[in-house]
Amino acid sequence: MTDWLIKEMKKISMIEKYAVPPENNYSKLDANENLVVDKDYLTKIALDSLKKIDLRKYPIDLYEQLYRRLSHYLKISEKSLVLGSGSDQIIDLLLTLIGKGRRLTSIYPTFSYFKTRCQFHGIAFSDIMLSSIDNTLDIEEFIVDAKKSHAIYLCSPNNPTGNQFDKSEILHILKTLKNNLVIVDEAYVEFSKYSLTKYVNEYSNLVILRTFSKALGLAGARVGYMVANKELAELFRNRIQLPYAVNSLSLAIAVSLISRPKKVQESISLIKNERERLYQNLSKIKNIDVYKSDANFLFIKCNTRYSRIVEALENSKIVVKGLGNIKNYGNCIRITVGTKKMNNKILSAIKNIH
Ligand SMILES: Cc1ncc(COP(=O)(O)O)c(C=O)c1O
Repeated sequence: MTDWLIKEMKKISMIEKYAVPPENNYSKLDANENLVVDKDYLTKIALDSLKKIDLRKYPIDLYEQLYRRLSHYLKISEKSLVLGSGSDQIIDLLLTLIGKGRRLTSIYPTFSYFKTRCQFHGIAFSDIMLSSIDNTLDIEEFIVDAKKSHAIYLCSPNNPTGNQFDKSEILHILKTLKNNLVIVDEAYVEFSKYSLTKYVNEYSNLVILRTFSKALGLAGARVGYMVANKELAELFRNRIQLPYAVNSLSLAIAVSLISRPKKVQESISLIKNERERLYQNLSKIKNIDVYKSDANFLFIKCNTRYSRIVEALENSKIVVKGLGNIKNYGNCIRITVGTKKMNNKILSAIKNIH
């Protein structure tokens, strides 16, 4: 094999592998999907969509329809929107644009896949520790580091800690770091206090990532989008993004869902109520620390009980995200808020640990 390829392959094999969760009859509470919205309702939308589309054709009309619907849903010009095959695919395009040899500042802990992709793209990744007491960020320390970078990545609310930084703090970062491309990942924003989408008109360096995979319940359809100023969005749509990154069926399903979002909105309200109930009940358990969340998951510091908690959940057929030892935090897990029944199962499994 070619020398350079062997060298590249060796380097790439050092990057952390994406761990695919097990598929079985467990309650899958490890990937922050929306398991509350009715599966049959989504299947019906998918079947109706399938009947409407013409698979022989490229999805030109469907793109237009989804842009129009999304624009209405977000109350933002459709010219600011760029669709992608999940937000992961748009992340890759953004990192390609930033380019090999450039530097990016983020926080720790955050969405680990993003760091992995930076490694793959040859982008130097620097991260500033959150406070393990309350997950807050030292904004001035962050700004000092970011001034050495070309781009920054903030997850809002943050995965895995679940908190959303104060809006004024992010706006302060945006005002101060005019020379950085500021990527704000709002994958979980529907569960949170605020979105920054409307600020793309004010800050031309702001790019927001959104997805249909979490609150909207369509992780399997692979539809994500970016919100940015019109000039950058136009460049992405017509020159950077693949012409048809999203397939007809996924586009049609997304159009249909977003045209009647009532059921999804009901599931979001239910998840938010359950998040509070789960938080209150887990907070009563000794020797673990549960953090307040603005997302559809809870971040839990398990202290000395990590292995026992993971084992007890496994025995109750619940899969959670075992995060292992996080610097300054210790051993942590992240649990997706599921249906009331699933959440009760979590509570009884953890309550019984001594
Ligand atoms: C913060 C964050 N961004 C992006 C994604 C990827 O979303 P998508 O399914 O749209 O690729 C995830 C999924 O876990 C996530 O947690």
